[in-house]
Amino acid sequence: MRAIVTTRNGDVDVLKVENRPDPIPQKGEVLVRVKAAGLNFADILARQGLYPDAPSKPCIMGYEVAGTIESIGDTVDPNIVGQSVIGMTRFKGQAELVAIRASQVFEKPTELTFEQGAAIPVNYLTAWALVVTMGGLNKDEAVLIHNAGGGVGLAALDIAKHIDAKTFGTASASKHEFLKARGLDHAIDYRNQDWLPILMKLTENRGVELVIDPLGGKSWKQSYRALRATGRMGVFGMSTASASGIRGKLRALKAIVQTPRFHPLGMMNRNRGVFGLNLGHMWGEADKVASWTREIMQGVAEGWIRPHVDRSFRFDQIADAHRYIEARKNIGKVVLVP
Ligand SMILES: NC(=O)c1ccc[n+]([C@@H]2O[C@H](COP(=O)([O-])OP(=O)(O)OC[C@H]3O[C@@H](n4cnc5c(N)ncnc54)[C@H](OP(=O)(O)O)[C@@H]3O)[C@@H](O)[C@H]2O)c1
Repeated sequence: MRAIVTTRNGDVDVLKVENRPDPIPQKGEVLVRVKAAGLNFADILARQGLYPDAPSKPCIMGYEVAGTIESIGDTVDPNIVGQSVIGMTRFKGQAELVAIRASQVFEKPTELTFEQGAAIPVNYLTAWALVVTMGGLNKDEAVLIHNAGGGVGLAALDIAKHIDAKTFGTASASKHEFLKARGLDHAIDYRNQDWLPILMKLTENRGVELVIDPLGGKSWKQSYRALRATGRMGVFGMSTASASGIRGKLRALKAIVQTPRFHPLGMMNRNRGVFGLNLGHMWGEADKVASWTREIMQGVAEGWIRPHVDRSFRFDQIADAHRYIEARKNIGKVVLVP
């Protein structure tokens, strides 16, 4: 099979398409012929050497795929061979074939293309955990979604709209028109101006009940200030660190130095909470993830979960795909097709 290999840390030239032996599904696994694989920010950070969860290099990245079941290992129901599925995998998804635990694949709804299917797991499960499970967003509350034009951002917007909460989002100005068309109530250009005073003005100085923040560093300090009483802040990334080589290391260091400390007594007295999410550390909680997946699939059937694929790149265009995300050009998901 052909696979995208991150050969070492570095710029996009370290990404190669190489031939690898076909995986053989083990007991309890299925072999998926990949029609589309999600490309995630984590894959960029892994290439830059800034993703602590990445496997050692050379490695095949890829947390999510959509495709068809080619064969099965022992104990798996043979009737599922040939089925179109969406799957979550701990790496190795950016390949023509991947072996996945049968419990981590679910049937692809017919209304979704393979590309749209591959756009679901990471973005929507992350957004579900942040907005619903841990964020507990309610109708009549307000949420601030940072990087609202990214894959997780758009997924969070779908979910917050369904809850009927008021939505604020930060994004590059070029993404605002699209976000408003998707239903965002207020888009804030956070790249050319200080977003916090604008948010406070829009909320009559009250702030919001939920902020989801993947930027890290000093952004977490600002986001905490944006919380209204009973507000929660969910932290889930450090996008500000993204850069290759020494520049990335320095940015990561700066973000760590600028990370605020939250004292329990301070949170108690301000009626605020802070929580963190790392979906990549949920592999031991298959039941929880499966129940979120069922809710998301229900949303697909009802039409309020709307995975948006911005662009798909062929495996041999992997360098362009990474550059596209690094240049912040994507609105929603970027997927890879063999
Ligand atoms: N903890 C978890 O479980 C988990 C799961 C999924 C994702 N994440 C994290 O969430 C973040 C967003 O993921 P995503 O899949 O939504 O990414 P995405 O679709 O690639 O969107 C990322 C957006 O972030 C903004 N951005 C901010 N700083 C950036 C930088 N230095 N370089 C490039 N873009 C930057 C850009 O929007 P603007 O143009 O509007 O600035 C960009 O479009 C990432 O930090 C990722 O690692 C965490």
